[in-house]
Amino acid sequence: MNPEPVLAAPILVAEGVVRSYGDRRVLKGVDLSLRPGEIYALLGHNGAGKTTLVRAICGRLRPDAGSVLLNGADPARVPAARAGLGLVPQEIALYANLSVRENIETFATLAGVPRGKVPAAVRRAMELTRTLDRADAPVRTLSGGFQRRANIAAAIVHQPTLLILDEPTVGVDIDAREAVDAVIRDLRGLGVAVLIVTHDLDQAGALADRVGFLRDGSMVLEGEPRALVAEAFGDQMEILVHLADGLDMAGEIHLAAEGLEPTRRPGVWTRLDSGGYGAAGRLDARLRQLGLTPREIRVRQPSLANLFSLVAERKAA
Ligand SMILES: Nc1ncnc2c1ncn2[C@@H]1O[C@H](COP(=O)(O)OP(=O)(O)O)[C@@H](O)[C@H]1O
Ligand SMILES: [Mg+2]
Repeated sequence: MNPEPVLAAPILVAEGVVRSYGDRRVLKGVDLSLRPGEIYALLGHNGAGKTTLVRAICGRLRPDAGSVLLNGADPARVPAARAGLGLVPQEIALYANLSVRENIETFATLAGVPRGKVPAAVRRAMELTRTLDRADAPVRTLSGGFQRRANIAAAIVHQPTLLILDEPTVGVDIDAREAVDAVIRDLRGLGVAVLIVTHDLDQAGALADRVGFLRDGSMVLEGEPRALVAEAFGDQMEILVHLADGLDMAGEIHLAAEGLEPTRRPGVWTRLDSGGYGAAGRLDARLRQLGLTPREIRVRQPSLANLFSLVAERKAA
């Protein structure tokens, strides 16, 4: 028998974090903790307070109430606590005319890596982010995906125990996103705790050990992605109907009457149903009767995206 695994002490403990701008409360008492080797995805609409929370965790702003402990110390008061932190900001924050290596060297020096250790630290950061083969290329000549990875390399060169990425894959193509995900997984393997702020629910579902939904400054739901989805949807499946183009208003009314809702993809409608494939077959027959012959009907497990819609519409939590 294996002994009970001993959980490592948390790297980050934020408790009851409150923050207002003027008389607007942007964070209303948020708790968040992360352990070594854990990937946590922070989700929420624009304006929910995600970046404000990140700034509080980094010690860049002081909470009005509550506390943040990073490796046991308050990063707003104890600069040494910030040494354990790497931040990848949303915008690429590199010197465009310097090479990847020169950029990472600069960040290493700024982060206080002793001069003699800089070359090895820089090499390690480039290996981890798979940017070594572009080491001498000026950053401005790199693709968006390479720039993202170089941005991460700059944030990890001092070997932080917590890496925070604020929307690292906005406007990035799928290959670049997968490359970023691979880097994050490798860091997890090394015991780094990773906090990733993302709008990309597929990314969060695939990558995160835990997710948290921030809504209007409160953490309204938190947990392991698959468990949360299972708890919210039970045996319901998502039925996705793909219709031919040129749906008119009458067609839309028919679809809505069948309980279908439009998705962000044109011509694709969705509904949750505990009747599985049988229900999908009946829906197909019904739509054909209405002259709305589906091009394709898919039945699949509900995802974090379905849960996010529920939470955002305040139907859950
Ligand atoms: N420096 C600031 N001064 C005033 N209001 C701010 C400031 N920063 C953010 N806000 C407001 O606080 C709310 C939360 O912002 P933010 O934390 O950036 O949200 P998110 O990152 O989830 O989109 C927003 O309504 C935003 O307009
Ligand atoms: Mg933000």
